[in-house]
Amino acid sequence: MFRTDYPVLISQAEGLIEGVPHLVANLANVSALLYTTMEGLNWAGFYLVEGEGLVLGPFQGKPACIEIPWGRGVCGTALAEDRTQLVPDVHAFPGHIACDGASRSEIVVPLHKEGKVFGVLDIDSPTEGRFSEEDRQGLEALVSMLEKQLF
Ligand code: SME
Repeated sequence: MFRTDYPVLISQAEGLIEGVPHLVANLANVSALLYTTMEGLNWAGFYLVEGEGLVLGPFQGKPACIEIPWGRGVCGTALAEDRTQLVPDVHAFPGHIACDGASRSEIVVPLHKEGKVFGVLDIDSPTEGRFSEEDRQGLEALVSMLEKQLF
């Protein structure tokens, strides 16, 4: 349905952050790249670990929930389980946190620093089933590049 050229996206992201020693600027630019490159999205950005939970980081899209407790919603579940959550229908995900009522599907990938979860990449779509296994693999590859380049 929606296809993303991940090798191109990853090399564009790498080009944006290469040599830039500013975490917030880099996460902001990666959010903007994802939001403007991937089709069919209504939100793309990061939540970062603070204490036990997550706090809103750089993103593109409508204003969003600021704090997400550990284990709550799709993002808090990705943090608690330390693995990608691919949710074809957010209405069927127990505890989903609806920041934008238009969201129908979501993918959340944990981002690590020194082996510990540092935050999550969260991408939402108004289309049910927007994200595929190919997106999971592509976004996990993007996040592994970020883990090497950001810190
Ligand atoms: N839906 C997320 C909350 C964050 S927004 O999608 C931007 C969740 O359930 O964790």
